[in-house]
Amino acid sequence: AIQAFIFDLDGVITDTAKYHYKAWKQLADELGLPFDHAFNEQLKGIDRMASLEKILSQMEDGGRSISIQQKEHWAAHKNSVYQQLIEAVDESEILPGIEALFHELKEAQLRIGLASASRNAETLLKQLKVEAYFDCIVDPASIANGKPAPDIFLAAARGLGVHPSSCIGVEDAEAGIQAIKGAGMYAVGVGDASILSKADMVVPDTSKLTLTSIKAHWSQVGE
Ligand code: BG6
Ligand code: MG
Repeated sequence: AIQAFIFDLDGVITDTAKYHYKAWKQLADELGLPFDHAFNEQLKGIDRMASLEKILSQMEDGGRSISIQQKEHWAAHKNSVYQQLIEAVDESEILPGIEALFHELKEAQLRIGLASASRNAETLLKQLKVEAYFDCIVDPASIANGKPAPDIFLAAARGLGVHPSSCIGVEDAEAGIQAIKGAGMYAVGVGDASILSKADMVVPDTSKLTLTSIKAHWSQVGE
């Protein structure tokens, strides 16, 4: 049976994906590098440094001339822009249906975990006032290989004391769906089904995430 749900944060619990986009866009503009929504799609779910590397790979030399110190400076700059953008986030920015789903999960005595690559995740959970729902919040700094590697989802399952095959992972990013599938979990995608084609089930937005509908789909593949 299903024992736990493991959530991504950005783009699933709250729409911070748009703030990450804005902050990266500002940095890319400052560096004179191209950046649009299509490019941003590749950055979803990916950690801060790996995202910066992808942006810099568009430089003529693929970013190879840039020192570690310079990269760290730019990553910190992006983060400070991002932190200003999320300063005013409060519970009004929880995406539709998410809190109702948390209630349903608690009612059904299922465990809830967080597998976000963001080092700002815990702050956001507090601002959204949903931290208390979580039985395990993985510290992304403790994870060697970021998404699309399965490590962060496996760490969440371990933290929850649940076998991966009894976990449902919820993600809005292609890299995140890959991570969930790599961990041997059932993957629920939120967003565009053509982008999230590796998911076991895709809903167009969070308002369609209900335990009943997920259970119905899951029972067709699992036990
Ligand atoms: C992921 C986001 O959740 O966290 C990415 O999808 C972001 O866009 C990554 O870059 C890292 O976030 P942070 O807050 O640690 O820079
Ligand atoms: Mg996300």
